[in-house]
Amino acid sequence: MIGTDLTIARQWLEAGNVVGIPTETVYGLAGNALNDEAVLTIFRVKNRPAFDPLIVHTDSLDKIRGLVRDLPPVAEQLARTCWPGPLTLLLPKRDHVPDLTTSGLDTVAVRIPDHPLTLALLKSLDFPLAAPSANPFGYISPTTAQHVADQLGDQVPYILDGGPCPVGVESTIIGFDEAGRAVVYRLGGMALEQLEAITGPLRVQTSSSNPQEQAHPQAPGMLTSHYAPRKPLTLLADGEVPAALGTLPAEQFANSVGALVFSSTLPGIPEANQLVLSPNGDVLEAARHLFAYLRRLDTLPVTQLYAQLVPDEGLGRAINDRLRRAAA
Ligand code: TXA
Ligand code: MG
Repeated sequence: MIGTDLTIARQWLEAGNVVGIPTETVYGLAGNALNDEAVLTIFRVKNRPAFDPLIVHTDSLDKIRGLVRDLPPVAEQLARTCWPGPLTLLLPKRDHVPDLTTSGLDTVAVRIPDHPLTLALLKSLDFPLAAPSANPFGYISPTTAQHVADQLGDQVPYILDGGPCPVGVESTIIGFDEAGRAVVYRLGGMALEQLEAITGPLRVQTSSSNPQEQAHPQAPGMLTSHYAPRKPLTLLADGEVPAALGTLPAEQFANSVGALVFSSTLPGIPEANQLVLSPNGDVLEAARHLFAYLRRLDTLPVTQLYAQLVPDEGLGRAINDRLRRAAA
């Protein structure tokens, strides 16, 4: 059931069940992060491998201090500047945070999401919420309550409807290396440029070509193939046109191809088969539309999908990261 009743959401969560929740980035599949049963339900409903740890959400820095052993000065500075907001920090966990939640890692991923309904919900609970994106593992993340209902509705008793997600891509993930330096493990809703204004130049380590690390990634958002539509997807650089344009008869080409483009349509493909992320060329608007349009692209009556990369700045980096993984 989809609704806006915080009391119903709270009651399901207090009973150890899972609830779909809105955040500024994407919808989450939430459960009590400190309750093994609830956490197991999250993994089961998502069909998520047990080695892929969950992000724990709370509504205050004080509550975060109760979950982590240490908050290094740079982490505290990031927290104070970016929270509530689309940033996740990897920090050493306290003993009472279940190993199931962190997949046995010594660190826990924490964030304060910036959504009024979910902040109110978190405030009313006496436990934090573990919440991965509310999609089946490997598929496109949901940015509306209906997306959650479409894919997981029969397994989730309640989905809290907070409208379409205003950011549209998942949180940026930052961890700390042995020397305590901040490292970006996932590009996301908090732009690199904004983070670097706080921390100075950041190392970005968002993919690995090492097959062993692929099997047990530091942050499995790093898995190369992710966010994938069900039809084959090919990427296009700015100004590039699909290779099949010119090799196939024009009409056959036009009717077999769908495209996700940044600000203007491509030649040779019917307008009805093209989705424009941002007619004004605004990467924030493009990020907001990205996942909903990828879903629509996947339902077009065509056999081959194309997606155009966007300018590699601000949230454009996160968009391009998701497109590359969707095409992998
Ligand atoms: O914006 C978001 O972060 C959304 C909303 C719902 O908050 N959540 C989200 O969760 O994207 P999920 O599960 O789809 O992605 C979480 C990522 C995964 O790649 C996971 O491997 C990584 O965070 N992660 C979680 N805990 C970790 C840890 N202790 N060390 C390394 N990576 C971790
Ligand atoms: Mg996810």
